[in-house]
Amino acid sequence: MLALPETGQEWPALREALIAAKARDYSWKRGRMAVFFYYLDEALERVQQEAYLQFWTENNLGQRAFPSLARLEAEVIEMGLSLLHAPEGAGGSFTSGGSESIFLAMLAAREKGGRARPNIVLPDTAHLTFDRAAWYLGMEVRRVPADAERLSDVAAMEAACDAQTVALIGSAPNYPFGTVDRIAALGELAQRRGLWLHVDACVGGFLNPFLEELGVALPLWDFRAPGVTSISADIHKHGMAPKGASLLLLRDAALKQHHRFESRAWARGAYVAHTAQGTRPGGAVAAAWAVMRHLGRAGYRDCARRIMAARAAIAAGVSAIPELECLPGEHAILVYRSTDAALSIARVAAALDARGWLVSRQVEPDGIHLHLNPLHAEVAEEYLADLRAAVAEARAGAGAEMAAARAY
Ligand SMILES: Cc1ncc(COP(=O)(O)O)c(C=O)c1O
Repeated sequence: MLALPETGQEWPALREALIAAKARDYSWKRGRMAVFFYYLDEALERVQQEAYLQFWTENNLGQRAFPSLARLEAEVIEMGLSLLHAPEGAGGSFTSGGSESIFLAMLAAREKGGRARPNIVLPDTAHLTFDRAAWYLGMEVRRVPADAERLSDVAAMEAACDAQTVALIGSAPNYPFGTVDRIAALGELAQRRGLWLHVDACVGGFLNPFLEELGVALPLWDFRAPGVTSISADIHKHGMAPKGASLLLLRDAALKQHHRFESRAWARGAYVAHTAQGTRPGGAVAAAWAVMRHLGRAGYRDCARRIMAARAAIAAGVSAIPELECLPGEHAILVYRSTDAALSIARVAAALDARGWLVSRQVEPDGIHLHLNPLHAEVAEEYLADLRAAVAEARAGAGAEMAAARAY
């Protein structure tokens, strides 16, 4: 077991050790990953790092000490609200990531719903973070099979509701397939039954608005859809900020009371928090603020354009391989599979991995899942060349098979 050293080492040696520690990591900067990273260019990387460093140790729990962070955080939330067409009187919270945003939304729905044995109803394409949140919060999860288009089956979701249901969920888009649920119909159902509707736009919050500007026809997915109560939108995904940045946005700021903690049960007076974190990194807020101000709508539109270019190039290259087929879709998520029993996609995945690509496997259907970001437009041809070689190898029955057992 590694013990804390008695005497410390100098930084140069530690720096070398950290660099060496990365030696076997996949290269995100060369676009070798289709999960876990979002990268545009070195100019944005500098903004991310320098903005973070400006507030690298400031504690965002202490906004009395750091009015700067209170202001930056409020501005990030306002920019998020206006991007997602929130009405007057809306509010939100800056959180550490999609999971925290979703946990808080589910907590608020449970508290507002006030049921003895609360349950939540969601399409089975929704992120497992809802199941994690429900587990923490003592709620039942009712996953309802999506329809043939991999969209929320609203009638079946209604049938799954009962008097103990506190929330409906839709994704914009979901992570497995990149499809955007029927949010308007879910909103109508939520209003009719007095339920909380949460839209998981962790992936789409900072991408959908710009896909729409580029002419991609998305169904209504944000606060424009009546009945949407809350939206999670990750700034550390397509918002392009460093990790540790997401928004939970509420149609009505007063709903924040339902995920507000307050207690005086100790010697220090009142402790009030709207987030799961106590101490919170100021750097995450400063970097998110700077990235949003730096990119502006034009920068995000450019990211969306590059992602769509990556999608078009990779989808065309995959479809040109006779035994492979892409699932339909028009988002940053692209899934493809083998249509020929003689070609094992598990073998293709292993051969791609051997060429330095971190492969994200899909279980249903047995396939390969790509979550594209701007950098993939630049490496699409390299990816396709390696894919063709991987397929040739797999056709010959060479190499290992990569199991599809784990999402992460
Ligand atoms: C649609 C969706 N929701 C929620 C999450 C969870 O977000 P995080 O990993 O930032 O906690 C993810 C993560 O990939 C996601 O894709």
